[in-house]
Amino acid sequence: MALAMTDCAFTSVGSVITVEKRDSAVDFVCKHGRVRVTVLADGIVRVRATRATELGPDFSYAVARKRWPKTPVRITAGIIRTRKLVISITKSPLRIAFATLDGTVLNRDNGRGMGWEGAKCRSHRWRARDEMFFGCGESAGPLNKRGSTTTFWNTDDPNHTYATEALYISIPFLISTRPGAHYGIFWDNTHRTRFNLAQVEDEKQYVLESDAGEIDYYFFAGDSIREVVRGYTELTGRMWMPPRWALGYQQSRWSYMSTDEIMDIARSFRERKIPCDAIYCDIDYMDGYRVFTWNPKTFPKPRAMTDGLRKIGFKLVTIIDPGVKNDNGYSVCRDGKKKGMFLENAVGGWFTGTVWPGECLFPDFTNPRVRAWWGLWHKELLDLGVAGIWNDMNEPAVWNHPGGTMPLDIPHEYDGQHVTHARAHNVYGFNMARACHEALRKLRRDERPFVITRAAYAGIQRYSMVWTGDNQSLWEQFAVSIPECLNLSLSGVPFCGADVGGFGRDCTGELLARWTQAGAFFPFFRNHTAVGTRQQEPWAFGMEIEDICRAYIRLRYRLLPYLYNLFREAALDGTPIMRPLFWEFPDDPHGYAIDDQFLLGPSLLIAPIVKPGATARAVYLPEDQWYDYWTKQHFKGGQYIAASAPLDRMPLFVRAGSILPMTKPIEHTGQKTEAIILDVYPGPKTAGYLYEDDGATFDYKRSRYSLTRFEWADGKLRIGKRKAGYQSAAKLYRVLVAGREVRS
Ligand code: GLC
Repeated sequence: MALAMTDCAFTSVGSVITVEKRDSAVDFVCKHGRVRVTVLADGIVRVRATRATELGPDFSYAVARKRWPKTPVRITAGIIRTRKLVISITKSPLRIAFATLDGTVLNRDNGRGMGWEGAKCRSHRWRARDEMFFGCGESAGPLNKRGSTTTFWNTDDPNHTYATEALYISIPFLISTRPGAHYGIFWDNTHRTRFNLAQVEDEKQYVLESDAGEIDYYFFAGDSIREVVRGYTELTGRMWMPPRWALGYQQSRWSYMSTDEIMDIARSFRERKIPCDAIYCDIDYMDGYRVFTWNPKTFPKPRAMTDGLRKIGFKLVTIIDPGVKNDNGYSVCRDGKKKGMFLENAVGGWFTGTVWPGECLFPDFTNPRVRAWWGLWHKELLDLGVAGIWNDMNEPAVWNHPGGTMPLDIPHEYDGQHVTHARAHNVYGFNMARACHEALRKLRRDERPFVITRAAYAGIQRYSMVWTGDNQSLWEQFAVSIPECLNLSLSGVPFCGADVGGFGRDCTGELLARWTQAGAFFPFFRNHTAVGTRQQEPWAFGMEIEDICRAYIRLRYRLLPYLYNLFREAALDGTPIMRPLFWEFPDDPHGYAIDDQFLLGPSLLIAPIVKPGATARAVYLPEDQWYDYWTKQHFKGGQYIAASAPLDRMPLFVRAGSILPMTKPIEHTGQKTEAIILDVYPGPKTAGYLYEDDGATFDYKRSRYSLTRFEWADGKLRIGKRKAGYQSAAKLYRVLVAGREVRS
């Protein structure tokens, strides 16, 4: 016992023995290891620490940008200076502090500093009295993460609650803010990692820790949270523009059991005049859950089905899980075994585990050869007219092993690093989605891929969008989807959403109405529910609920030009599409605590009704001028107002000074509209813009687009000079002022 305690005692890196200067880096050789501080940009610094004499190979799945322009740094007596930051290093023991040029300390090592306890690496960091934390990827907890603990270990937990620490996606990126001081830390370690932002040893400290590996973190300093997020997405990459149809409403169920059912559902949308762009085939479309097959009885002619869907403006998305049924009569299994594509046990022999198909083999997606092999299996799906791929169960979920995943000693290729599952676990799903994205790019050169994944790691936005996995048809889970998606959006993944209506349990009409109203303003808008639950399509609860769902889905479609602008901003510099109030109003302290309201872009404020039976709610309007979208009543911000919310109304406000580009209601994104409607909400300065492209082709250079700017002054619309790289951009504008026609 005593021995174990000594073994696990914390060893800090200790005192600095020698200092070795490099180009933009300085190495501190310490008593118990080596620490390297590298300046990547004026506000971006990387810190690595090892207890070995030399740092290990520089490898990361998350990091997209490897080269940075040389940044001038001044290094004098323990101080590294950039044009934004002063990094002070105290030598005995080594402690690093990051401060702004005016001397405000942003953050620093605290207490025992950096070091190791057993195999674990850890950083004790100073926490300011008024510091708030955001980001941290996916979590079903509060918006502000101060006081919480997040575990980064991709976990399939369909019964998660507000207190659950580990969910499907791991993004160890922390955003910190307090008045006048903003920073971010990306802790790039794919082992099981914990951010303990609760009270640890004392009020003044928080702890970042991983089960093993080197300390490797990036520190982002910025004048605002915006700048911190921009820096993080510069490092880990940004999403590509998705196909325009992916912004439309999408319908799913586990499962629509046959071609007939799929076609019936699709036709019902058209008959009922409810807009919809995509329908999903969950696991039952396959033959015995064998991936890349079709059930010959229930889905005998998939090509005819996708053709039929296309004719009425629907895309088909099919699920693909990582587990390959261990069945030598099945080509994917046979071929994979022959070519050595599956993971093996630590002692040799195939690793097998149980998922939907029964006993399965698992491809090693961390091997580039396996990614390429897996990718090619998508060809047939694409040839059959499938438009997008849904990657699921890729934490990976493995039911018959402790912890619901693979044993930690399973060897992975890890792009030449040869590691065990303990290090590969959190990037298994990431690399599956990557394989899929790369395959779609290769197989359909000119088309934008659509990939949706359940498990992910930092940087996933380069390959896939995400949804928040299995939630429940409960009001609490609806409410928590707001902070959950806001923090995901701040963590570099702007294209995200939750299962509208809830996945597990039976939904109710009221919950579906309220969830659809809010879901219409989330970046990803898909209704999905589990096997055995009652039907959850917009019409499943009678006319009143159907009418409400129709009205809000239509509103989503009318707002598509505005939403498309926001997707472009996200693709350009990582700006969230769905934003917490403080993103737009950083000086308004109320916005940091509000997690039952959000902004869609700069102009729309959404205040969902997240309580059963409620017919009114308090809405906080940030410091500005606002219009009630429904009544057009004008409000001064900086106050709470009581908003009426009968079942058919979700409080919605437009910021004065906005010009919202909109369209006439359409049934799917393939329908052309002849005019763009500009809905003007006058303020002291009123402006807007419209981004247009063909919505479908993959424009690597992001250059074939049109951009038109508008201004409203003295009762007149002025159309600014247009960048016209996309030929069939709208030429007609209809102008409304606060919803009222002024001229055609
Ligand atoms: C998982 C997914 C869920 C899907 C089900 C069956 O639980 O999260 O969305 O419907 O598997 O494939």
